[in-house]
Amino acid sequence: MTMRVQIDAGDVGAIQADTLVIPITRRGETPSALPQGLSAIDRRMGGRLADALAAGDFKANVGDRLVIYGPRDGDLVRCVLLGLGEAEKIDDAALRELGGRVGREAARANTGRVALVVPPGPGLAPERAAARLADGILLGAYDFDRYQTAGSKATGKGKGRDARRSASSRLRIAFVRRTKGLARLRSEVRDTLHVTESQIAARDLSNEPPNVIYPETLARACRSMARAVGLRCAVMSDAELRRRKMGAILAVGQGSQHPPRMIVLEHGATAARKKKGTLAMIGKGITFDSGGLSLKPAASMPDMKHDMSGAAAVFGAMRAIALLDLPIHVVGVIAAAENMPSGTAYRPSDIIESASGQTIEIVNTDAEGRLVMADALHHAVRTWKPDAMIDVATLTGAAMLAFGPWATAGLGNDDALLAELREAGDRAGETVWPMPLLDVHTKAMKSKVADWKNSGGRDAGVSTAGAFLKGFVGDTPWVHLDIAGSGMTSTQTPLHVGGATGVGVRMLTEWVSARAR
Ligand code: BES
Ligand code: MN
Ligand code: ZN
Repeated sequence: MTMRVQIDAGDVGAIQADTLVIPITRRGETPSALPQGLSAIDRRMGGRLADALAAGDFKANVGDRLVIYGPRDGDLVRCVLLGLGEAEKIDDAALRELGGRVGREAARANTGRVALVVPPGPGLAPERAAARLADGILLGAYDFDRYQTAGSKATGKGKGRDARRSASSRLRIAFVRRTKGLARLRSEVRDTLHVTESQIAARDLSNEPPNVIYPETLARACRSMARAVGLRCAVMSDAELRRRKMGAILAVGQGSQHPPRMIVLEHGATAARKKKGTLAMIGKGITFDSGGLSLKPAASMPDMKHDMSGAAAVFGAMRAIALLDLPIHVVGVIAAAENMPSGTAYRPSDIIESASGQTIEIVNTDAEGRLVMADALHHAVRTWKPDAMIDVATLTGAAMLAFGPWATAGLGNDDALLAELREAGDRAGETVWPMPLLDVHTKAMKSKVADWKNSGGRDAGVSTAGAFLKGFVGDTPWVHLDIAGSGMTSTQTPLHVGGATGVGVRMLTEWVSARAR
């Protein structure tokens, strides 16, 4: 379920919802009365909220939840009192998780209209609480169910395409009128949710099946997103890729019915903004990775619709950056191709020439990601000479084995830049953990018959893949993020039901906004 968000300031008393969430902090003692400004809601609830608090059962400790049902003939079905504990102690991650639990339950119960009422202090900073809770509610409620038609037997929850657009899946965030600085609060919540909704857009894109999202349709999705948020978008056709001698991405795509595309998204291309520098973000967009002629085993193939999660992260981050209108020049490059086995597919032992002029011996057609990235990295370096460049890719099974869904592998040629990304990740709730990039790793990627080979074998898979990419970035400060583990998972958390995580969107947006400051 995807929720639409509406922010209301003022008339909390008349708000309509299936589930009305009221966050409550405690300061020392157990709260015994409703926060200010909620008496109209309590009246509609037949006084039950105040009664419940007066009884003292609800301690408002972190995570405490008390569901209170309204009178049968009333117009409010249920209110959820949500404990936030001591207001000064609760951190962003905890707030977001609490929101996630609420969102998940609301989505499961199909109670589409959720309202979050934000009482004014004391002790509770409303903009922080509201933004983080709403962020969590949207992520927790997210489920990729758009292809489940009405009455779908499998889960009984599918609502189909029409219901998806219905007004009933909606989150309203309402501030109590007396809250100070309402206009600022609204805009802070709005900004947070730009990022949340961009992460959800990234999840959607990655979760789409590969018969729907292939290079041309990925480019189309970029174009329409760019138009909606005011980004520049340019798409290179396969003819243009040939003109530009992008032999690596062309080789990967040549076995597919769907030709490859290089997609460029650009934000803030003005002289004033360029003064703050130019940042580049490069995403791996393999819309399906069968392994090519070095075919993957059947069991590892279904997840490979997510092999464009790096592209989705760049897509989402560029969307958020545009909506936040961050004052800096940013380019996003997406290398889109489908890796298929066929009579026209590239072969193990082929020698190809990348856009940089460097030659590559193909030893394994399943090491395709680094090939498309080589052309994209080179293109970005040559075209914009960025001050810093980050690439995001579901590049190696080794990263998944090393970190599972819990961290993103980071390496590069600039320790300070890697530290920036780790800090941005920490602020955003995404963990980046460093991996080595040593000369021995570069050596392992040297071919006897060409400049490079595309696989160094099983040993140190994350680092050898990174060492290969390093060969195409020149002296541009660069960090490579391997999200093979963190980009998709069946591990559930309060903020994620499974499938694409949308990892990277938050971290990249946070990093760019720090650079823009
Ligand atoms: N897309 C895969 C990596 C991957 C594996 C991502 C599992 C997410 C989950 C990548 O293209 C790949 O196949 N890598 C190979 C490289 C090897 C042939 C050098 C790998 O990691 O096995
Ligand atoms: Mn592969
Ligand atoms: Zn791949």
